[in-house]
Amino acid sequence: GVVAIAKEHQLVTIADNTFMSPYLQKPLDLGIDIVVHSATKWLAGHSDILAGAVVTNDQALAAQIYFVQNAVGATLGVTDSWLLQRGLKTLAIRMERHTASAQQMAAWLEQQSVVLRVNYPGLVSSPFFEIQQRQAKNGGAVLSFDVGSYENAKIVAENVQIPVFSVSLGGVESILSYPPKMSHAELDANDLAATGITPGLLRLSVGLEDVDDLIADFGKAFKNIPV
Ligand SMILES: Cc1ncc(COP(=O)(O)O)c(C=O)c1O
Repeated sequence: GVVAIAKEHQLVTIADNTFMSPYLQKPLDLGIDIVVHSATKWLAGHSDILAGAVVTNDQALAAQIYFVQNAVGATLGVTDSWLLQRGLKTLAIRMERHTASAQQMAAWLEQQSVVLRVNYPGLVSSPFFEIQQRQAKNGGAVLSFDVGSYENAKIVAENVQIPVFSVSLGGVESILSYPPKMSHAELDANDLAATGITPGLLRLSVGLEDVDDLIADFGKAFKNIPV
């Protein structure tokens, strides 16, 4: 839909495909002109490098992007390049497992009485389910859920044992974060509310741990929330 509007107005489209990875979604095939990735996330997959990729199938755009890259000297170091290549070899198999676990985790979260809302486009209840089905392989491996208040979110973050509590995503380990004070800390209260980032919202990047262990871990943490 965005591509159609952009083409009508001769605009260049840029899609950040970080959350999906090329394994789950191919924006160039959807008509996007330039795709960017934080390769720090799923592409490398092990939370041990910082890297990025800019991808296009348009020669003229590629030449302009290369000019900027060359001018600013944005090249990746040798060790990081090696780690990225090594991570890429298991991208497909990692994404299959990450996303299957995320789907299970989202379905479980949706049934918990302490959870007011689950944001995951792989759930039939998501307003984005149909779009996601059309353009990507599945719902990905990042979801968020609302436990009702800052206090409850704090209880969950302090009581889970498996996920690391950090701002990133896309690693072999599950990563839990608190968007209002981490990834979206620069937004004021109005913008947070407008974007649905409520005080009880936690974000989970689902790792490669046994999903039953993860569910049990969150189940135990939820028991600390006063009813
Ligand atoms: C969707 C998205 N795009 C880009 C970035 C920036 O990536 P990096 O930290 O690798 O520069 C991030 C990182 O947080 C991200 O989540």
